[in-house]
Amino acid sequence: MNLGIVTVSDKGSRGERKDSSGPAIASWMAETFPRSTILARIVPDEKEMIYEALADLADNQGCRLIITTGGTGFGGRDVTPEATRSAIEKEAPGLAELLRLEGLKKTPFAVLSRGIAGIRGQALIVNLPGSEKAVKEGLETLSPLLPHAMELIEKGSLECGR
Ligand code: MTE
Repeated sequence: MNLGIVTVSDKGSRGERKDSSGPAIASWMAETFPRSTILARIVPDEKEMIYEALADLADNQGCRLIITTGGTGFGGRDVTPEATRSAIEKEAPGLAELLRLEGLKKTPFAVLSRGIAGIRGQALIVNLPGSEKAVKEGLETLSPLLPHAMELIEKGSLECGR
């Protein structure tokens, strides 16, 4: 199974900042889905480039889960949610709501993430904030949910059974 990571960062894409959040997602993926292949990309905060990375990972690489990190805040160049919205076919608001709700237990700034989640074909796409701390907290929150969510997407007519 292929899984995708998109680190969204102007500085990271120019090699001016070391990406620690992408690797944190990669180690979580390797632990949670041991037989998976992880495809990681770093793109600048450009809506079109984020969209293209998501569409390529979902449509051409067959990724079943794509986690983005960064670009979800209030800054002028933060456009990851907008790029994700244009890439998904169905929104999964509960995942984003849960991330903010659980994030609030760690920091009041959790509500400053505008991240969204949704489905494109067979791929579940989730936006996480940019910091490694926020990524680790977000993955801890999502861990119990993602395998079942992905199974439901794969088996289009599977009954929930939970
Ligand atoms: N969520 C959690 N769980 N933990 C955090 O430390 N940081 C917040 C928020 N969400 C944070 C969090 C902060 S400070 C910001 S500015 C927003 O995510 C947006 O981050 P981004 O612009 O790097 O995506």
